[in-house]
Amino acid sequence: MELSNRIQRLKTSPTRKLNPYSEEAERKGIKIYHLNIGQPDIETPKLFFEAIEKFNGKTLGYAHSRGIKPLIQKIQEYYDKMGIHYEEDEIVITYGGSEAVLFTMLAIFDEGDEILVAEPYYANYNSFCDVLNVKRNAVRTYAENGFHLPNRDEIEKYITPKTKAYMFSNPSNPTGVVSTKQELDDIAYLSKKHNMYIISDEVYREFVYGDRKAISFGTYKDLAENVIIIDSISKRFSACGARIGCIISKNKNFMNAVFRECQMRLSAPTLEMIGAAALYDLPSEYFEIARKEYDNRRKILFEELTKMDGVIVKEPEGAFYVLAKLPVKNAENFAIWLLKDFNINGETVMFAPGEGFYATAGLGVDEVRICYSLDSEDLKSAMNILKEGLIKYRKEVER
Ligand SMILES: Cc1ncc(COP(=O)(O)O)c(C=O)c1O
Repeated sequence: MELSNRIQRLKTSPTRKLNPYSEEAERKGIKIYHLNIGQPDIETPKLFFEAIEKFNGKTLGYAHSRGIKPLIQKIQEYYDKMGIHYEEDEIVITYGGSEAVLFTMLAIFDEGDEILVAEPYYANYNSFCDVLNVKRNAVRTYAENGFHLPNRDEIEKYITPKTKAYMFSNPSNPTGVVSTKQELDDIAYLSKKHNMYIISDEVYREFVYGDRKAISFGTYKDLAENVIIIDSISKRFSACGARIGCIISKNKNFMNAVFRECQMRLSAPTLEMIGAAALYDLPSEYFEIARKEYDNRRKILFEELTKMDGVIVKEPEGAFYVLAKLPVKNAENFAIWLLKDFNINGETVMFAPGEGFYATAGLGVDEVRICYSLDSEDLKSAMNILKEGLIKYRKEVER
Protein backbone atom coordinates (compact mmCIF):
# COMPACT_ATOMS: atom_id res chain seq x y z
CA MET A 1 0.00 0.00 0.00
CA GLU A 2 1.39 3.37 -0.97
CA LEU A 3 1.41 6.61 0.96
CA SER A 4 0.86 10.02 -0.56
CA ASN A 5 3.72 11.97 -2.08
CA ARG A 6 2.72 14.74 0.28
CA ILE A 7 3.39 12.68 3.38
CA GLN A 8 6.60 11.23 2.02
CA ARG A 9 8.00 14.76 1.89
CA LEU A 10 7.40 15.15 5.65
CA LYS A 11 10.55 14.68 7.74
CA THR A 12 11.06 13.91 11.43
CA SER A 13 11.14 17.02 13.60
CA PRO A 14 14.75 18.05 14.41
CA THR A 15 13.83 18.60 18.04
CA ARG A 16 12.77 14.96 18.33
CA LYS A 17 15.11 13.38 15.81
CA LEU A 18 17.56 12.16 18.42
CA ASN A 19 14.91 10.63 20.69
CA PRO A 20 15.95 7.02 19.94
CA TYR A 21 19.44 7.87 21.29
CA SER A 22 18.11 9.65 24.38
CA GLU A 23 15.69 6.80 25.10
CA GLU A 24 18.54 4.31 24.87
CA ALA A 25 20.69 6.45 27.21
CA GLU A 26 17.82 6.73 29.68
CA ARG A 27 17.34 2.96 29.57
CA LYS A 28 20.98 2.69 30.67
CA GLY A 29 20.22 4.95 33.63
CA ILE A 30 21.84 8.14 32.25
CA LYS A 31 20.21 11.39 33.33
CA ILE A 32 19.67 13.73 30.39
CA TYR A 33 19.34 17.49 30.55
CA HIS A 34 16.83 18.13 27.79
CA LEU A 35 17.79 21.38 26.11
CA ASN A 36 16.26 20.21 22.84
CA ILE A 37 12.59 20.94 23.39
CA GLY A 38 10.81 24.28 23.87
CA GLN A 39 8.58 23.15 26.66
CA PRO A 40 8.54 25.66 29.54
CA ASP A 41 9.12 24.07 32.96
CA ILE A 42 7.41 26.92 34.83
CA GLU A 43 4.19 25.69 36.49
CA THR A 44 0.92 26.18 34.65
CA PRO A 45 -1.05 28.68 36.78
CA LYS A 46 -3.64 27.03 39.06
CA LEU A 47 -6.36 29.25 37.59
CA PHE A 48 -6.37 27.01 34.53
CA PHE A 49 -7.12 23.82 36.46
CA GLU A 50 -9.55 25.53 38.83
CA ALA A 51 -11.64 26.86 35.95
CA ILE A 52 -11.87 23.37 34.44
CA GLU A 53 -12.83 21.85 37.81
CA LYS A 54 -15.75 24.29 38.03
CA PHE A 55 -17.23 22.97 34.78
CA ASN A 56 -20.58 21.47 35.74
CA GLY A 57 -22.11 20.53 32.40
CA LYS A 58 -23.54 17.02 32.14
CA THR A 59 -22.19 16.46 28.64
CA LEU A 60 -18.88 17.57 27.21
CA GLY A 61 -20.07 18.87 23.88
CA TYR A 62 -18.46 20.46 20.86
CA ALA A 63 -17.94 24.16 21.20
CA HIS A 64 -18.61 26.72 18.45
CA SER A 65 -16.14 26.13 15.59
CA ARG A 66 -14.82 29.67 16.09
CA GLY A 67 -14.10 29.00 19.78
CA ILE A 68 -15.97 29.90 22.96
CA LYS A 69 -17.06 33.51 23.36
CA PRO A 70 -15.54 34.07 26.84
CA LEU A 71 -12.08 33.13 25.53
CA ILE A 72 -12.42 35.26 22.40
CA GLN A 73 -13.48 38.19 24.56
CA LYS A 74 -10.50 37.72 26.89
CA ILE A 75 -8.19 37.71 23.89
CA GLN A 76 -9.85 40.90 22.65
CA GLU A 77 -9.24 42.56 26.03
CA TYR A 78 -5.63 41.37 26.06
CA TYR A 79 -5.02 42.96 22.63
CA ASP A 80 -6.95 46.09 23.61
CA LYS A 81 -4.40 46.55 26.41
CA MET A 82 -1.69 46.52 23.71
CA GLY A 83 -3.62 49.24 21.86
CA ILE A 84 -4.83 46.91 19.09
CA HIS A 85 -8.55 46.34 18.72
CA TYR A 86 -9.95 43.22 17.07
CA GLU A 87 -13.63 42.42 16.53
CA GLU A 88 -14.91 39.00 17.63
CA ASP A 89 -15.04 37.72 14.06
CA GLU A 90 -11.39 38.68 13.58
CA ILE A 91 -10.29 35.94 16.03
CA VAL A 92 -10.65 32.16 15.78
CA ILE A 93 -9.44 29.64 18.35
CA THR A 94 -7.27 26.78 17.11
CA TYR A 95 -5.50 23.67 18.42
CA GLY A 96 -2.41 25.59 19.44
CA GLY A 97 -0.33 27.88 17.30
CA SER A 98 0.46 24.79 15.23
CA GLU A 99 -3.03 24.47 13.82
CA ALA A 100 -3.12 28.24 13.42
CA VAL A 101 -0.06 28.04 11.11
CA LEU A 102 -1.48 25.05 9.24
CA PHE A 103 -4.91 26.65 8.68
CA THR A 104 -3.29 29.92 7.64
CA MET A 105 -1.05 28.22 5.11
CA LEU A 106 -3.89 26.03 3.80
CA ALA A 107 -5.94 29.15 3.20
CA ILE A 108 -3.19 31.04 1.38
CA PHE A 109 -1.03 28.65 -0.60
CA ASP A 110 -1.54 26.45 -3.60
CA GLU A 111 1.02 23.77 -4.47
CA GLY A 112 4.11 25.35 -5.98
CA ASP A 113 3.56 28.77 -4.40
CA GLU A 114 6.43 30.40 -2.58
CA ILE A 115 6.94 31.69 0.93
CA LEU A 116 9.55 34.19 2.01
CA VAL A 117 11.39 33.24 5.21
CA ALA A 118 14.61 34.22 6.92
CA GLU A 119 16.64 31.14 7.72
CA PRO A 120 17.04 29.75 10.34
CA TYR A 121 13.37 29.60 11.36
CA TYR A 122 10.99 27.47 13.42
CA ALA A 123 11.54 23.94 12.14
CA ASN A 124 7.86 23.00 11.88
CA TYR A 125 7.43 25.67 9.20
CA ASN A 126 9.46 23.25 7.08
CA SER A 127 7.01 20.47 7.85
CA PHE A 128 4.00 22.57 6.83
CA CYS A 129 5.77 23.73 3.67
CA ASP A 130 6.75 20.16 2.80
CA VAL A 131 3.23 18.82 3.22
CA LEU A 132 1.68 21.66 1.22
CA ASN A 133 4.48 21.70 -1.36
CA VAL A 134 5.30 25.33 -0.78
CA LYS A 135 8.74 26.48 -1.85
CA ARG A 136 10.81 28.38 0.69
CA ASN A 137 12.65 31.44 -0.55
CA ALA A 138 15.10 31.73 2.30
CA VAL A 139 17.02 34.89 3.12
CA ARG A 140 20.18 33.88 4.93
CA THR A 141 20.93 35.32 8.38
CA TYR A 142 24.11 34.70 10.37
CA ALA A 143 25.11 33.75 13.92
CA GLU A 144 27.91 36.33 13.69
CA ASN A 145 25.44 39.23 13.59
CA GLY A 146 22.87 37.73 15.90
CA PHE A 147 20.64 36.43 13.04
CA HIS A 148 19.19 39.86 12.23
CA LEU A 149 17.84 40.51 8.73
CA PRO A 150 19.94 41.99 5.93
CA ASN A 151 18.75 45.25 4.37
CA ARG A 152 15.54 45.62 2.38
CA ASP A 153 17.15 45.42 -1.08
CA GLU A 154 18.78 42.12 -0.20
CA ILE A 155 15.49 40.65 1.07
CA GLU A 156 13.66 41.84 -2.06
CA LYS A 157 15.88 39.65 -4.25
CA TYR A 158 14.06 36.61 -2.83
CA ILE A 159 10.58 37.80 -3.82
CA THR A 160 9.00 36.59 -7.06
CA PRO A 161 5.42 36.90 -8.42
CA LYS A 162 4.72 33.50 -6.78
CA THR A 163 5.76 34.67 -3.29
CA LYS A 164 2.54 34.98 -1.36
CA ALA A 165 3.67 35.59 2.21
CA TYR A 166 6.49 36.34 4.59
CA MET A 167 6.40 34.14 7.68
CA PHE A 168 8.48 34.57 10.80
CA SER A 169 8.39 34.29 14.57
CA ASN A 170 9.08 37.33 16.70
CA PRO A 171 10.67 36.81 19.21
CA SER A 172 12.28 34.03 17.26
CA ASN A 173 12.45 30.33 17.76
CA PRO A 174 15.22 29.14 17.19
CA THR A 175 17.50 32.20 17.31
CA GLY A 176 16.13 34.29 20.19
CA VAL A 177 16.13 37.36 17.90
CA VAL A 178 13.66 40.16 18.61
CA SER A 179 12.93 42.00 15.36
CA THR A 180 13.81 45.70 15.35
CA LYS A 181 11.37 48.41 14.24
CA GLN A 182 13.49 48.90 11.12
CA GLU A 183 13.26 45.20 10.24
CA LEU A 184 9.47 45.24 10.64
CA ASP A 185 9.21 48.45 8.61
CA ASP A 186 11.20 46.81 5.81
CA ILE A 187 8.93 43.77 5.79
CA ALA A 188 5.87 46.04 5.91
CA TYR A 189 7.15 48.02 2.90
CA LEU A 190 7.93 44.86 0.90
CA SER A 191 4.64 43.15 1.69
CA LYS A 192 2.72 46.22 0.51
CA LYS A 193 4.80 46.60 -2.61
CA HIS A 194 4.54 42.93 -3.58
CA ASN A 195 1.05 42.28 -2.25
CA MET A 196 2.18 39.64 0.26
CA TYR A 197 0.62 38.44 3.48
CA ILE A 198 2.67 38.74 6.65
CA ILE A 199 2.26 35.69 8.88
CA SER A 200 3.51 37.06 12.18
CA ASP A 201 4.00 34.30 14.73
CA GLU A 202 4.02 36.09 18.06
CA VAL A 203 3.69 33.19 20.50
CA TYR A 204 6.75 34.34 22.51
CA ARG A 205 5.61 37.99 22.72
CA GLU A 206 6.05 38.32 26.49
CA PHE A 207 9.57 36.91 26.58
CA VAL A 208 11.89 39.79 25.73
CA TYR A 209 14.83 40.90 27.81
CA GLY A 210 16.71 44.07 28.62
CA ASP A 211 14.95 47.19 27.34
CA ARG A 212 13.76 45.50 24.14
CA LYS A 213 10.11 45.28 23.15
CA ALA A 214 8.47 42.83 20.81
CA ILE A 215 6.49 45.03 18.43
CA SER A 216 3.35 43.30 17.19
CA PHE A 217 2.53 43.52 13.48
CA GLY A 218 -0.98 44.24 14.71
CA THR A 219 0.19 47.79 15.41
CA TYR A 220 0.71 48.36 11.65
CA LYS A 221 -2.77 49.75 11.03
CA ASP A 222 -2.25 50.41 7.30
CA LEU A 223 -1.40 46.73 6.78
CA ALA A 224 -4.65 45.37 8.19
CA GLU A 225 -5.39 43.35 5.02
CA ASN A 226 -1.92 41.80 4.91
CA VAL A 227 -1.28 40.88 8.55
CA ILE A 228 -2.16 37.53 10.10
CA ILE A 229 -1.18 36.98 13.71
CA ILE A 230 -0.44 33.53 15.08
CA ASP A 231 -0.85 33.31 18.83
CA SER A 232 -0.94 30.64 21.53
CA ILE A 233 -1.19 30.10 25.27
CA SER A 234 1.46 27.33 25.19
CA LYS A 235 4.45 29.50 26.06
CA ARG A 236 2.67 32.59 27.41
CA PHE A 237 1.09 30.63 30.27
CA SER A 238 3.26 27.49 30.29
CA ALA A 239 0.32 25.48 29.00
CA CYS A 240 1.64 23.56 25.99
CA GLY A 241 -0.60 20.56 26.66
CA ALA A 242 -3.81 22.60 26.58
CA ARG A 243 -3.43 22.94 22.79
CA ILE A 244 -5.02 26.37 22.56
CA GLY A 245 -3.94 29.00 20.07
CA CYS A 246 -5.59 31.44 17.72
CA ILE A 247 -5.49 33.16 14.35
CA ILE A 248 -6.15 36.88 14.28
CA SER A 249 -6.61 39.04 11.22
CA LYS A 250 -8.62 41.98 9.95
CA ASN A 251 -8.71 40.47 6.47
CA LYS A 252 -12.37 39.35 6.25
CA ASN A 253 -11.92 37.21 3.17
CA PHE A 254 -9.07 35.30 4.80
CA MET A 255 -10.93 34.93 8.11
CA ASN A 256 -13.99 33.55 6.31
CA ALA A 257 -11.78 30.91 4.72
CA VAL A 258 -10.22 30.05 8.07
CA PHE A 259 -13.65 29.78 9.68
CA ARG A 260 -14.63 27.18 7.09
CA GLU A 261 -11.47 25.25 7.99
CA CYS A 262 -12.45 25.42 11.66
CA GLN A 263 -15.84 23.96 10.77
CA MET A 264 -14.22 20.99 9.08
CA ARG A 265 -12.68 19.93 12.41
CA LEU A 266 -15.81 20.95 14.34
CA SER A 267 -14.37 22.50 17.47
CA ALA A 268 -11.26 23.21 19.54
CA PRO A 269 -11.13 21.43 22.95
CA THR A 270 -14.00 22.74 25.07
CA LEU A 271 -12.55 22.32 28.58
CA GLU A 272 -9.15 23.70 27.65
CA MET A 273 -10.78 26.78 26.16
CA ILE A 274 -12.52 27.33 29.51
CA GLY A 275 -9.18 26.98 31.30
CA ALA A 276 -7.47 29.28 28.79
CA ALA A 277 -10.07 32.02 29.30
CA ALA A 278 -9.26 32.01 33.03
CA LEU A 279 -5.53 32.38 32.33
CA TYR A 280 -6.11 35.77 30.74
CA ASP A 281 -7.21 37.01 34.20
CA LEU A 282 -3.66 36.63 35.55
CA PRO A 283 -2.13 39.91 36.69
CA SER A 284 0.80 41.34 34.73
CA GLU A 285 3.13 40.39 37.62
CA TYR A 286 2.82 36.82 36.39
CA PHE A 287 4.80 37.77 33.29
CA GLU A 288 7.29 39.81 35.31
CA ILE A 289 8.16 36.76 37.40
CA ALA A 290 8.39 34.41 34.39
CA ARG A 291 10.45 36.94 32.43
CA LYS A 292 12.86 37.41 35.34
CA GLU A 293 13.36 33.67 35.63
CA TYR A 294 14.06 33.22 31.90
CA ASP A 295 16.28 36.28 31.85
CA ASN A 296 18.39 34.84 34.65
CA ARG A 297 18.78 31.57 32.77
CA ARG A 298 19.56 33.42 29.55
CA LYS A 299 22.41 35.27 31.26
CA ILE A 300 23.85 32.05 32.68
CA LEU A 301 23.64 30.33 29.32
CA PHE A 302 25.19 33.20 27.39
CA GLU A 303 27.97 33.66 29.92
CA GLU A 304 28.84 29.96 29.93
CA LEU A 305 28.70 29.64 26.14
CA THR A 306 30.94 32.66 25.55
CA LYS A 307 33.54 31.12 27.86
CA MET A 308 33.79 28.00 25.65
CA ASP A 309 36.61 27.92 23.17
CA GLY A 310 35.42 28.32 19.56
CA VAL A 311 31.70 28.74 20.28
CA ILE A 312 30.06 31.60 18.34
CA VAL A 313 26.98 33.08 19.93
CA LYS A 314 25.39 36.52 20.27
CA GLU A 315 23.34 37.51 23.27
CA PRO A 316 19.84 36.07 22.81
CA GLU A 317 17.21 38.82 22.95
CA GLY A 318 13.93 36.98 23.43
CA ALA A 319 11.97 33.71 23.61
CA PHE A 320 13.99 31.01 25.42
CA TYR A 321 16.35 29.77 22.75
CA VAL A 322 19.80 30.36 21.43
CA LEU A 323 21.33 29.02 18.25
CA ALA A 324 25.04 28.53 18.81
CA LYS A 325 27.77 27.70 16.34
CA LEU A 326 30.01 24.99 17.77
CA PRO A 327 33.64 24.26 16.89
CA VAL A 328 32.73 20.85 15.42
CA LYS A 329 32.25 19.72 11.82
CA ASN A 330 28.87 18.16 12.38
CA ALA A 331 26.76 19.18 15.37
CA GLU A 332 24.31 16.31 14.90
CA ASN A 333 27.10 13.73 15.17
CA PHE A 334 28.34 15.57 18.25
CA ALA A 335 24.85 15.60 19.80
CA ILE A 336 24.51 11.85 19.15
CA TRP A 337 27.96 11.24 20.64
CA LEU A 338 26.94 13.15 23.79
CA LEU A 339 23.97 10.81 24.17
CA LYS A 340 25.77 7.57 23.26
CA ASP A 341 29.32 7.90 24.41
CA PHE A 342 29.69 10.68 26.94
CA ASN A 343 28.52 11.46 30.44
CA ILE A 344 29.78 13.09 33.61
CA ASN A 345 28.78 11.15 36.72
CA GLY A 346 25.93 9.53 34.80
CA GLU A 347 24.60 12.78 33.33
CA THR A 348 24.59 14.11 29.78
CA VAL A 349 22.87 16.73 27.69
CA MET A 350 20.64 16.82 24.59
CA PHE A 351 20.35 19.55 21.94
CA ALA A 352 18.44 20.01 18.69
CA PRO A 353 20.86 19.93 15.73
CA GLY A 354 20.79 23.23 13.81
CA GLU A 355 20.37 21.85 10.29
CA GLY A 356 16.61 21.26 10.63
CA PHE A 357 16.02 24.98 11.16
CA TYR A 358 17.29 25.85 7.66
CA ALA A 359 15.79 25.51 4.22
CA THR A 360 19.11 25.39 2.39
CA ALA A 361 20.84 22.00 2.50
CA GLY A 362 24.19 22.08 4.23
CA LEU A 363 23.52 25.14 6.40
CA GLY A 364 23.44 24.92 10.18
CA VAL A 365 25.48 21.70 10.27
CA ASP A 366 27.79 23.11 12.92
CA GLU A 367 24.99 24.70 14.97
CA VAL A 368 22.74 23.55 17.80
CA ARG A 369 19.61 25.09 19.22
CA ILE A 370 19.67 25.27 22.98
CA CYS A 371 16.46 25.85 24.89
CA TYR A 372 16.77 27.35 28.37
CA SER A 373 13.67 25.84 29.83
CA LEU A 374 15.61 24.29 32.73
CA ASP A 375 16.24 25.88 36.10
CA SER A 376 19.53 27.71 36.72
CA GLU A 377 21.31 24.91 38.58
CA ASP A 378 20.45 22.30 35.94
CA LEU A 379 21.47 24.75 33.24
CA LYS A 380 24.89 25.23 34.85
CA SER A 381 25.39 21.44 35.06
CA ALA A 382 24.29 21.08 31.42
CA MET A 383 26.73 23.79 30.30
CA ASN A 384 29.57 22.09 32.16
CA ILE A 385 28.77 18.83 30.35
CA LEU A 386 28.75 20.67 27.01
CA LYS A 387 32.09 22.34 27.77
CA GLU A 388 33.82 19.11 28.83
CA GLY A 389 32.14 17.18 26.01
CA LEU A 390 33.40 19.64 23.41
CA ILE A 391 36.96 19.37 24.70
CA LYS A 392 36.91 15.57 24.65
CA TYR A 393 35.10 15.31 21.30
CA ARG A 394 37.54 17.63 19.55
CA LYS A 395 40.54 15.88 21.07
CA GLU A 396 39.46 12.27 20.64
CA VAL A 397 36.76 12.04 17.96
CA GLU A 398 37.10 14.91 15.52
CA ARG A 399 40.86 15.38 15.52
C1 LIG B 1 7.55 29.88 16.82
C2 LIG B 1 6.52 28.90 17.23
N1 LIG B 1 5.31 28.98 16.68
C3 LIG B 1 4.34 28.12 17.00
C4 LIG B 1 4.56 27.10 17.90
C5 LIG B 1 3.44 26.16 18.16
O1 LIG B 1 3.11 26.06 19.49
P1 LIG B 1 1.71 25.50 19.96
O2 LIG B 1 1.14 24.66 18.89
O3 LIG B 1 2.03 24.70 21.20
O4 LIG B 1 0.88 26.71 20.28
C6 LIG B 1 5.81 26.97 18.49
C7 LIG B 1 6.12 25.87 19.43
O5 LIG B 1 7.22 25.61 19.84
C8 LIG B 1 6.82 27.89 18.16
O6 LIG B 1 8.04 27.82 18.69
